[in-house]
Amino acid sequence: MSDLKCSDTSCDKPLNAAYWEAQYKAKTTGWDLGQVSPPIQEYIDKITDKKKRILIPGCGNSYEAEYLLEHGFTNITLIDIAPTLVAVLKEKFKNNPNIQIVLGDFFEHQGNYDLIIEQTFFCALPPTMRKKYVWKMHQLLDEDGILAGLLFNRMFQSGPPFGGSKEEYQKLFAAAFDFIKMDSSENSIAPRANSELFINLKKNSKVVVNLYELEGITCSGCMETITEKILAIDGVLNTSISSNFAEVLIVSTNEIETKILKDVIAYDEKYTIKKIKN
Ligand SMILES: C[S@@+](CC[C@H](N)C(=O)[O-])C[C@H]1O[C@@H](n2cnc3c(N)ncnc32)[C@H](O)[C@@H]1O
Repeated sequence: MSDLKCSDTSCDKPLNAAYWEAQYKAKTTGWDLGQVSPPIQEYIDKITDKKKRILIPGCGNSYEAEYLLEHGFTNITLIDIAPTLVAVLKEKFKNNPNIQIVLGDFFEHQGNYDLIIEQTFFCALPPTMRKKYVWKMHQLLDEDGILAGLLFNRMFQSGPPFGGSKEEYQKLFAAAFDFIKMDSSENSIAPRANSELFINLKKNSKVVVNLYELEGITCSGCMETITEKILAIDGVLNTSISSNFAEVLIVSTNEIETKILKDVIAYDEKYTIKKIKN
């Protein structure tokens, strides 16, 4: 991680579509297990409703999807940003009405899911994007939706993969999710033994999350002032401005009218705020 200086939109080693595409082209896909990860398989085996709307983001070769299809699941969506990989998946699952394959950026994806499966996608993202990941997951899940899968419970010298700890994840996911489970995984594959946590997190549907586009902010001081002003609005629980000052995420107990936000930042006429459509 030390070799990276990332922001939400830029990075010394940008982990963008071109980066991932190059890995698939060069076949440097060391993360690929060649099988469903056993803890995820065990989790899938316990699901009785085969009609659940399931998303697998950053899906890679997605052995999970194959397993779900073999076991009768009928509504699976895969999304990945690497064109070469997606072309392979489209061929592999051709003419199967039970699976949709999307080439695109998870953070731009729109949909409504009952279950999202996490398998080495979180750890592939720059750590600066973790908050955004959490709230994007929240947005894509339906009421009572579940985010389930594996997170690394260890650090790495450099990334990707980027590691983390249970303590960090507890803080990160706390406002957006209720914790059904976040425990050491006992049946991880041997190379990942004792270094993964199995998560089963239920969307906290009591909070409203919106993302807005910001313009005109150029310094950390202004960012802090705006943060304070937004936090003072009735109903706002949390807010975070991206490190390039271009976006602000607002978590609240009720929908906040855009007019209220506009008024709050109107102390400087250069500042504008616009809701990004969910
Ligand atoms: C470490 S790999 C894991 C692949 C797969 N989940 C697995 O475990 O084999 C990370 C995957 O996320 C994809 N990815 C990275 N950033 C993405 C983004 N913003 N949107 C969608 N996919 C993304 C990459 O192309 C890559 O396939």
